[in-house]
Order: sequence, then structure tokens, then C-alpha cells
Amino acid sequence: MREGDGVERTRVGIVGAGPAGLVLATLLERAGIESVVLESRSRSYVEQRVRAGVLEHPTVELLRGIGVADRLDREGMPHEGISLRFGGGDHRIDFADLVGRGITVYGQQEVVKDLLADRVDGHRGPVEFEVSDVALHDVTTDAPSITFTDATGTDRTLRCDVVAGCDGFHGVSRTAIPDGLLRIAERTYPFSWLGVLARAAPTHDELVYAGHDRGFALYSMRSPEVTRLYLQVPPDTDAAAWSERQIWDELGTRLEADGFGLNEGELCEKPSVTGMRSRVVEPMRYGRLLLAGDAAHIVPPTGAKGMNLAIADVRVLADALVSLFEGGSETGLDAYSDTCLRRVWRAEHFSWWMTSMLHRFDDENDPSEFAGPFGRGLQLSQLRYTVGSRAAATSLAENYVGLPHEGTR
Ligand code: APR
Ligand code: PHB
Repeated sequence: MREGDGVERTRVGIVGAGPAGLVLATLLERAGIESVVLESRSRSYVEQRVRAGVLEHPTVELLRGIGVADRLDREGMPHEGISLRFGGGDHRIDFADLVGRGITVYGQQEVVKDLLADRVDGHRGPVEFEVSDVALHDVTTDAPSITFTDATGTDRTLRCDVVAGCDGFHGVSRTAIPDGLLRIAERTYPFSWLGVLARAAPTHDELVYAGHDRGFALYSMRSPEVTRLYLQVPPDTDAAAWSERQIWDELGTRLEADGFGLNEGELCEKPSVTGMRSRVVEPMRYGRLLLAGDAAHIVPPTGAKGMNLAIADVRVLADALVSLFEGGSETGLDAYSDTCLRRVWRAEHFSWWMTSMLHRFDDENDPSEFAGPFGRGLQLSQLRYTVGSRAAATSLAENYVGLPHEGTR
């Protein structure tokens, strides 16, 4: 809405059109609260960006609850378990048996497409694509604003009651908080993932996590025609240094199991290398600026938590904003950071645990507790216990499928 002096006004200014920003915008719109989403990339870019692929059970339920899950329910792939491979054996973790629910494999870009179709094509609210020079102002007052240059090159000002920083790890929102007020806890892992997306029919109907002596490998998928695979590589790896032959051979070695074979196919895109880090920024609130998703926390992808955590954050935030705008209460905003961080730290621990158990820490200079022969012994013991104890397997299962959004034990 444009005010007399050309300044625009909305309730919530949302920076970032990833899962966090778009789910928040949709939750607010369903509650009758207007927002404006500002996105630096184009619509086609955010819809094509290959990222995560696993939806927790609570995430699927939330997307269904806001009415954006029709295609997810048609095209998503429900999974009732995963397999862990190590020491030449294959061990299935049966989610359905252990915790009575599962996950759904559905690309993040598909979630983003569904949310944008609902909001933009459904004319439910604005998303400004290809904005630049986004800057936040007066976030410690109850009248913050966002200045930005829109896709036409026009400088604009958006006044709002609240700003949601959903702009990811490299976004600007976090920089609006004085360094001295932020507590950052982080860990960088001594390896990366080389990821490939291949036009090859999956040969196995569930995800496989391999903790091979040569290193970690992950077998996943995107559809009945597309396989998604990852290899642990040294942290400074140049993807171009790996030929397709080398990639397929190493994947075949690390994922080897009786009766398992890989369909090799044409790569849909150039292989990419992703660094591995854990990072938590506290607090997630600064006045009327609320951080959500990767803007506040990063997890190594081993636990498939990134997108699910982002969505869990904005579910809490949306409830807090309804209380603010309907009842004038800031109680929800006051509790926002602590409420989210309980789930964030649970997911950080689970992601660290999965990463530490399954990857090879083979640099003798690596100070981590999982390097060298003793570290490998610890890993194999943990893996054997996890697949051999119902209690331990249940712990993995309930964390992997997603603890209830209401809170985290
Ligand atoms: N101005 C506007 N938009 C910005 C800016 C900026 N200055 N900086 C970044 N963005 C946009 C990015 O282009 C991106 O579309 O913010 C969005 C942030 O989206 P994500 O990085 O996907 O972060 P989030 O929504 O928190 O989702 C987190 O989803 O990407 C997956 O698994 C991944 O853990 C990650 C999870
Ligand atoms: C993926 O399919 O991209 C994927 C699945 C599980 C993970 C990480 C990535 O833990």
C-alpha cells in the first residue's frame, strides 16, 4: 500500500523468498496479515535452485495445512525408512515401525514453486524479485523500514511493523544487528560434499547413507527419473577435478552392497561442491527484526534439517505475529528466539551426530575426536549400536522424521 509521500507500507517486510520467507508470507496471508517479500534473485532462479530434498513429517503437515501441498501429495515420494551402510553391511532404519511416521522426498525448489504459484499467481500478495541494495532501518523501534532498489532501478522505501530476515546465510538482515550483541557458535568440518544430479532412474526406493572406509556417500533421488548423489571430498575440492567416470566409480565403491547397483545417467547439471558447517546465531531477535532459517543457523546436510528448520522457525514467528497484530501482545516475539533455538540446537546436535558418525576424518592433523584409528573405532561402534538397538534406532528415527513443532524434548 502506497502512502501519500510515496512511501509504501505493510505489516511485515520479509527479506528473502526461500522456504522461510515464502512459508512465513503464506502463514501470514492465511491469518489476514499483509506482508511484502523482497527477493534479490529472479523467480526463475529461485525456482531452479537445486537444494534440499527431504521434508520432515511436521513440514508436510504444515504445507498441507496452508493448502499448498496438492502437487506435493501427487509427486512427492513418501519414505518409511533409510539405510545405513558400513563394514560391508546394509542396515535399514524402519521409521514406520519405530515411530509410526516417515518423510517425503520432494525437492526444495518444488516447495518454492508451489508457494510462489499460490502467492504470486494466486494474487495473494507481492513478491518483489531482483531487488538490490536492501537495507534495514530503525529495527529497534516499532516503525522499522526497508529501503531497496527494485527490478526497474527505482529506489523505494517500505515501512513496516516488523522485519523478518529470511535471507539466508549470505543475507544482509543479520548485519543489521550490532556485532557485539550477537553470539555466534560454529564448527567447520574438514570435508565437503560433491553433489551430482543425474537423469537416471533410482535403483533403490529409499535413501542410503554410507559410512565407507574411503569416505561418506549418500544415495538419494528427486523423482522416478532423477537420482541425487553425494560424495565426501576434501574441503578445498574443485568439482572440475572429478571426471564423471571417477564420480560414478567412487559412488559405486562407497555405496556397494549385495544386490545394489547404480544407474549411471547423464548429469542434469555440473557437479557442485558444498562446504560443511554448523552455525548458530543468537539471539534470533533484535527489536522488531526477527531472523529465521539460514539467516540464523546452518546445519551440515547429513541430517536433512536445513529447510525443515527454516519452516519450523517461521511457524513460531507467524504465531507470534498473529498475537502481536490481533492482541497487541509481544509475548510471542519475546519468546521467539528461545522457542526456536530449542529446536535449532536439537537439529544441530542431530546433524553433527549423523555427520560425525558417517564421515571419514582422515587427516592426522584433524583435532576432531573421530580422526585416526580410535576415532574410526568410535564411529563403527556407534553405527553398530544404532542399527542393533531398537532404542538407539528409535532415537535416530524420531529426529530424522522430525520432532513435533510444538516443542523439542
Ligand atoms: N535481499 C533480498 N533477498 C536476499 C538477499 C538480500 N540482500 N540475500 C539473500 N536473499 C535471498 C536469496 O536469494 C534466497 O532466495 O534470500 C533467500 C534465502 O533463502 P534460503 O537460502 O533458501 O534460506 P531459507 O529460506 O532460510 O531456507 C533454508 O533451505 O536453501 C535450503 O536447505 C537449504 O538450509 C537451507 C534452507
Ligand atoms: C537430498 O536428496 O538432496 C538430500 C537427502 C538427504 C540428506 C541431504 C540431502 O541428508
